[in-house]
This record gives sequence, structure tokens and C-alpha cells, in this order.
Amino acid sequence: MPDKKIIAVVGATGQQGGALVRAILAEPYQPFTVRALTRNVNSDAAQELKKLGAEVVSADLDNVNSLKLAFHGVYGVYGVTFYWEHCMPEREMSQAAAMAQAAKNAGATHVIWSTLEDTRKLVPIRDTRLPTIMEKYKVPHFDGKGASNDAFRQIGLPTTYLLTSFYWENLLYMQMGPKKQADGTLAFALPLGEKRLPGIAAEDIGKCAFGIFKRGAQFIGKNVGIAGEHLTGMQMAAAMTRALRQKVVYKHIPFEEYRTLDFPAAQDLANQFQFQHDFEVEFCAARNVEQSRSLNPSLLSFDGWLLKYKNSIPLT
Ligand SMILES: NC(=O)c1ccc[n+]([C@@H]2O[C@H](COP(=O)([O-])OP(=O)(O)OC[C@H]3O[C@@H](n4cnc5c(N)ncnc54)[C@H](OP(=O)(O)O)[C@@H]3O)[C@@H](O)[C@H]2O)c1
Repeated sequence: MPDKKIIAVVGATGQQGGALVRAILAEPYQPFTVRALTRNVNSDAAQELKKLGAEVVSADLDNVNSLKLAFHGVYGVYGVTFYWEHCMPEREMSQAAAMAQAAKNAGATHVIWSTLEDTRKLVPIRDTRLPTIMEKYKVPHFDGKGASNDAFRQIGLPTTYLLTSFYWENLLYMQMGPKKQADGTLAFALPLGEKRLPGIAAEDIGKCAFGIFKRGAQFIGKNVGIAGEHLTGMQMAAAMTRALRQKVVYKHIPFEEYRTLDFPAAQDLANQFQFQHDFEVEFCAARNVEQSRSLNPSLLSFDGWLLKYKNSIPLT
């Protein structure tokens, strides 16, 4: 389809990128087509995308030349990095810079960079409200993404800065869902206090991103924050009570306690939740639900997400 505008999607076999690939392919009568990037074109996930109709090509974020080849002739690029594969903000920043360089080299017309806040703008390193991690960061998996915005801005790439939200899929895969207590009741325990947490179905990130590509110039140079809803822990527990037909009780985990939990990302995630709590107003204001719905009319609420996924929530 040589007359179609190609959108190259990084992380096409993952949650964000995969959702964008499916969103593009679900609408064959629009001017876009998709090039799915993966490190392994033979994986089951890559082959699945091929079957759906995507062009699947090999590329690695650690290899700028592979990105230059993969971005050749594109109209758009969806860029995302994968902090949890290595947990090194510097590597995430160099991967973002490589994407920006390759997109510039390809003359891309529209880049969407999937970013998050550099929390150090509101909590400088000397500020003791959040412990400093790795000497330079407050929320390492946010800060490296936020700091990378400059890599796109400084070389004059036509970029939309997409601020994503907490995936509700974390309740399925990240052990953040309700758990059975000794007395048989279900407790939904997270360090949220009484504040709202913007959340979204991972699939809706891709659908919103496609909405941004379709509207094009309107969003270039802009931050666009997306969320399906902003909900407190109590509201999430109430929604789960309705969906599961079992009482779910919300329990706040103090940030200090969460920091000491026995898993490698505990400090990073504790700082993330505390940042979202302490800067609830700014964090929610940056993620407009109505705008997200205008980009993606099928945007799910948390109730809608639960209707689809409630049976997949591990309750043990
Ligand atoms: N969980 C949340 O609530 C949440 C919220 C907002 C933002 N985020 C951010 O979202 C990002 C992860 O996105 P995701 O959830 O879409 O990822 P994911 O579902 O975990 O998928 C991982 C993807 O990474 C690709 N990948 C990893 N290293 C690569 C490399 N060097 N070169 C090319 N591709 C590479 C993999 O592709 P192949 O294996 O096929 O090459 C795969 O598609 C993280 O940085 C996280 O901080 C998460």
C-alpha cells in the first residue's frame, strides 16, 4: 500500500505499541498503515502482528542504525522505552535519544513520545520529601522519560509528548489487585492515601495515540495526558466490590512501609505513588479524561475495564 502513510511502532509486541498496531489495523479505510518494530521478528507475538496485517521489521533501541533502517520512509513514529527490562534511566535516555535521532534522519512528520513527568522539577534532588535513588533520581522510571523530552525538542522534531497513566492491567500482572486476607475478605492495598490515581486500560493508550496521529498537526509540540478515570483507592475498591460481587476493602499502605517491601522496584514505586499523592492536583490536571475520550470514543471507565477483565484478576 505505497500511498498509505506508514506509522512505525516501537514496542509493537508490548502493551502500548501492540494496542496502537491493533488500533491502526482495525480501521483499514484510513490513510495509515503500520510498521511493527521488534527485536525478534520470529516470536509468536511478532508473527501474530504479521497475521493481523502489520509489516514486521527488526530493530533494537540500543542500535541507532537499526532504528534508522526501520524508520525509513515513515510518516509517523510511536516511541516508547522499556524501563523494567534493565532499570537504568541512563539507558532509557540513550534509547530515547536514538529514536529521536533516527526519526529526524527519516524526516518523520509526526512523532509521539510516550513519556512521564521528570519528578525532579517538583521535587528537586535536595528535597528530602522523596528519598533520592541512584544518586540522581526521585522516581527513576519517570525521570529518565521526562528528561528525554529534550532529546526530541532540541533537534526540532515534530513531537507530541504523551503522558500515560497507571495501567489497570497492573491489577492482573503486577500483583497490585485485591488479595484474600486470613479472614477470607478481599483487601486492595496500595500506597494511595485518599487521593485520586489516574488510570487507563493499556489498550486505550494505543487507541488514544492513534487518535493523536489522525488529528496530526493539532497536537505537535503539545503535551497530551490520557486517562480513563481518576479514582481514589476507595472508589476502585467499590467498583471491584460491584464487579466481583464480593466485598473489597481499600487499605492504604504507608509510603515508608511500601519502600521496605521485598521486591527490587519497591523504592522506585513507593516514590512514584507518593509523588502522585503529593502532587495529585497537578498529576490529574495533566491527564484529561474528556480529551482522552474525544481521541478515543471507546475509552473504558474502570467499571468498563472490570466488566472485561474481572475474571482474570488473581485473587490469591
Ligand atoms: N505499567 C504501568 O502502569 C505503566 C504506566 C505508564 C507507563 N509505563 C511504562 O511503559 C513502558 C513499557 O511499555 P509496555 O507496557 O508497552 O511494555 P511491555 O508490554 O512490557 O513490552 C515490552 C516491549 O519492549 C520491547 N523492547 C524491549 N527492549 C527493547 C529494545 N532494546 N529494542 C526494541 N524493543 C524493545 C519488546 O519488544 P520485543 O521483545 O518484541 O523486541 C516489547 O514489545 C515502561 O517504560 C513503563 O515505565 C508503564
